Amino acid sequence: MKKLFFLLLGCAVMQLQAQTTLPVIPVPVTLQAKSGSFTINKQTVIVAKQDTEKETVDFFNNYLTKYFGIKLPVVKSAAKNFISFTTNTFIQAPEKPERYTLNISPASIKINGDSRQGTFYGLQTLIQLLPAEKTAAVKIPAVSIEDYPRFGYRGIMLDVSRHFFDTAFVKRFIDLLALHKINTFHWHLTDDQGWRIEIKKYPRLTEVGACRNGTITGHHPGTGSDNTKYCGYYTQQEIKDVIQYAADRFITIIPEIELPGHASAAIAAYPQLSCFPDEPTRPAKGVVWNGDTTGKNVQQAWGVYPDVFCPSEYTFGFLQDVLDEVAALFPSKYIHIGGDECPKDSWKRSEFCQKLIKDNNLKDEHGLQSYFVSRIEKYLNSKGKAIIGWDEILEGGLAPNATVMSWRGEKGGIEAAEQKHDVIMTPTTYVYFDYAQRRNEDSLVIGGYLPLQHVYGYDPVPAALSADKQHYVLGGQANLWTEYVTNPAKVQYMLLPRMTALSEVLWSPKQNKNWDSFKQRIATQFKRFDLWQLAYYPGLDEPAK
Ligand code: ACM
Repeated sequence: MKKLFFLLLGCAVMQLQAQTTLPVIPVPVTLQAKSGSFTINKQTVIVAKQDTEKETVDFFNNYLTKYFGIKLPVVKSAAKNFISFTTNTFIQAPEKPERYTLNISPASIKINGDSRQGTFYGLQTLIQLLPAEKTAAVKIPAVSIEDYPRFGYRGIMLDVSRHFFDTAFVKRFIDLLALHKINTFHWHLTDDQGWRIEIKKYPRLTEVGACRNGTITGHHPGTGSDNTKYCGYYTQQEIKDVIQYAADRFITIIPEIELPGHASAAIAAYPQLSCFPDEPTRPAKGVVWNGDTTGKNVQQAWGVYPDVFCPSEYTFGFLQDVLDEVAALFPSKYIHIGGDECPKDSWKRSEFCQKLIKDNNLKDEHGLQSYFVSRIEKYLNSKGKAIIGWDEILEGGLAPNATVMSWRGEKGGIEAAEQKHDVIMTPTTYVYFDYAQRRNEDSLVIGGYLPLQHVYGYDPVPAALSADKQHYVLGGQANLWTEYVTNPAKVQYMLLPRMTALSEVLWSPKQNKNWDSFKQRIATQFKRFDLWQLAYYPGLDEPAK
């Protein structure tokens, strides 16, 4: 009797699971499982107008070819056995531009978007309903879905300065973002350890600034040096190609050019950018340095360095020229100007800076930082671009139109939103993917502990923010700093599956989120990660904190 009871209970649970756990991540706004399934066979066709659905159809056919050896013909209409992609292009300014519906029956699959981007996201959901293994029978469960995101800004940042990743890998990374309905790639292109973007007017930025003579081994300040020259940068042509690749996947790339701090690589190339051009670079304490110690050098260890951009006319001219080229390359509305971790030591001991503070009635060096950022903002606004800065740009007064990226917890985000500035939430405690995701991490990481369940539990709208200011939170972003991320497999491992959890945080309605359901759905996603030959951390039961 007891056995029968558990058998019946087991059946009931399985039925419930079939209804509630179709393995779609992020979980859609509404999802109704239906009976039956659609099978892709030799007669199946794609119905689409090639002009408005080209990116989506190409993505789908490439996916089918890569994993199932199928390429479907594209036609204008069909009566049955079709997969149709349509976009409501008649809607001029859709209220929810990323909205789509997906209806799967035994006779057809229909994806309809309120924009081309919505149609593309319908496809990303369909991909998650395809088999997660290579199989001859591509069978897809019947379902009816309506879906749109909670936040308009869903980002991932990749630092390519500390370690460089070539365009082939950056494209693979972009594919992963697309599959998670992430729509923004924040590309951290410059820092103390390497300048990674070709600037035609200043060739030394990449001739000199893109190489360091060595890299510390072990945890900062390190146990020694690898004594190996480390170089890498993207040509403008490569960047254009990556921008197009991302645009075909409805991903905007926001470039970051760090100022006024984290400037050692630029200063190594053009020492006049420092307030003390004749002083040698000071390595961080305890660092074993490889090679020349005279003059200005690209840093070989991690951390924060006091030799920052001098707020001189030479520097502003240089930065404006650099930003001219950056603005011309990247179609994004935003340029990220950094603004974090700028020690004030050199400005304090510079007569030039002290006079500048006095002449402009600035309060102190924080006021000077605000002056610096505001000048850059004004210049970029005049070019039709808006700036994003890390939350230190609040110190000394916010530039008038700046968007704030809140990383030192939620405080900066709350403060900026209360000042009626747009905010992107990216607090270390929830979305710093360079932190360990397991208690016993056996690879070298920066420190910290950020397991999957903790990411999943994040809400980008802080409880302490006034209700009438919540709309200033545009969304959220995870950051992958790469001091200890030296190769593509480690990038994947640090991202996955935490990015999968983040996608649900940023896309799904709060009331649809459920950790137990997520854990079940992600089991299928892990199989798909295997199919895609990705590195990932498969542990689900790490303590939440
Ligand atoms: C940061 O993590 N320094 C923005």
